[in-house]
Amino acid sequence: MAILKIARMGHPVLAHVAQKVADPTSADIKRLVADMIDTMQDANGAGLAAPQVHVPLRVVVFQAPEDRNDPGLAEEERFDYSAPLTVLINPEIEIVEQAAEGGWEGCLSVPEMRGWVERAAHIRYRGYDLDGQLIQRTARGFHARVVQHECDHLDGVLYVQRMKDFGKFLFESEAHHWMRREEG
Ligand code: NI
Repeated sequence: MAILKIARMGHPVLAHVAQKVADPTSADIKRLVADMIDTMQDANGAGLAAPQVHVPLRVVVFQAPEDRNDPGLAEEERFDYSAPLTVLINPEIEIVEQAAEGGWEGCLSVPEMRGWVERAAHIRYRGYDLDGQLIQRTARGFHARVVQHECDHLDGVLYVQRMKDFGKFLFESEAHHWMRREEG
């Protein structure tokens, strides 16, 4: 296990399209994923993509805990809105509904900042786990947001590039002025 150095905005590895993984079950990928999970948890992140640890491969890890979502959600809806710690290799996203939803995002590669980003509110995604098994899920809410954010990293895109209103780009330490009013 190891905690890896996280690339920050401006490092070229974050701006390039990452390569497909040839064998999701290889020992190298297992080691990379174990280190990515350690790194994500150490930094208190909800997700991490391999380019963020200077590895230009199509691998992401993320989690969408239940407590990130509206406690008023119906039981049958909760499944789409949350996800356990998940490894996705060579992921693909399909937008189910074009309708966008705004939300505050942060990124371990853009430390201490938050920005308001609109993303598809309902997606379907697929990818492989470390056993080479296909994972297919639908996602909404924070779950849909974190998957889109992490997969963007694989195409060299940071959330900042998705922002439309830079009036809503702010320091984390000032975010409390905004979040209670606008986070839905
Ligand atoms: Ni990020």
